[in-house]
Amino acid sequence: MEIIVLPTATDTAVVAADIIEQLVITRPAPVLGLATGSTPGPLYEELTRRHKGGLSFAHVRAFMLDEYVGLPAGHPERYAEVIRREVTEPLDIPLEAVQGPDGSAADLPAECERYEQAITDAGGIDVQIAGIGSNGHIAFNEPGSALTSLTRPKTLNARTRHDNARFFASLDEVPKHVLTQGLGTIGRSRHLLMLASGEGKADAVAAAVEGPLAAVCPASIVQTHRHATVLLDEAAASKL
Ligand code: GLP
Repeated sequence: MEIIVLPTATDTAVVAADIIEQLVITRPAPVLGLATGSTPGPLYEELTRRHKGGLSFAHVRAFMLDEYVGLPAGHPERYAEVIRREVTEPLDIPLEAVQGPDGSAADLPAECERYEQAITDAGGIDVQIAGIGSNGHIAFNEPGSALTSLTRPKTLNARTRHDNARFFASLDEVPKHVLTQGLGTIGRSRHLLMLASGEGKADAVAAAVEGPLAAVCPASIVQTHRHATVLLDEAAASKL
C-alpha cells in the first residue's frame, strides 16, 4: 500500500488521472472500476479536461461499484444516472461499455451473481476507483461486511443514509437497500485507487490505513490489496 498526501483534492485528482491515463494509453481494452459520491468528482473533471485535450476513452469498459435498490429508471440519484452524467457522457465512453448492478431487477441475488460473473468475463478490473464512507465503508460494504464477500444486496446503516441524504430531498427518500460489489470483488482488482478528502474522512482514513484489518472498517482491505494507492488531501490525512 502506498499513501500519497497532497495539499488539496485537486492535486490528488491529478495523480489519480495520471494513473488512469497511463492505463488507457497502454492497454488495448482497459477495464475501469467507477465510484460515485462527491470524492471522485475532481478526478472525473480532470479526466474530462484530458479527454477534451485528445485522450480517448472509446476503447474503455467500465464497471460500477454499487447501486441503490428501488429507485426508478431515470431517477437523478440512481448511480447509473450519476455515472452517465459524470463519466460516460463527458468522456464519450460508449453507453453499452459501462455496466452496473441493476437495483430494479426482480431477483436481486441472481442479478448480483450475474454482475460478478460479468466482471470476471471482462477479465477483471484493471484500476478500481473508490472513496471511503465516514464510517469506513467502501462501495456500500458497511461495517461488519465479510472480507471475502462478493456482489450482494446490503442494508444501509443509519449513518450512511444520513450522510447521503444531502443528495435527496429528505432522509426518508434515501433507499434502505443497495447492491454492492463485495470486499472480495474489490480485493481482486489489479490496482485500487482509494481517494479521500476533507477532515470528515480523517478518522475513517486513520482506521482503514493504520487500524487492524477488520470487518468493522471495510476499507481496511487496502492493507492487504496487492496494489493499493491511497490518495489523500492534507485534511483527510490529518489523523495519520
Ligand atoms: C457512498 C458510495 C461510496 C462512497 C461514499 C462516500 O456511500 N456508495 O462509494 O465512497 O458514499 O461518499 P462521498 O465521496 O460523497 O463522501
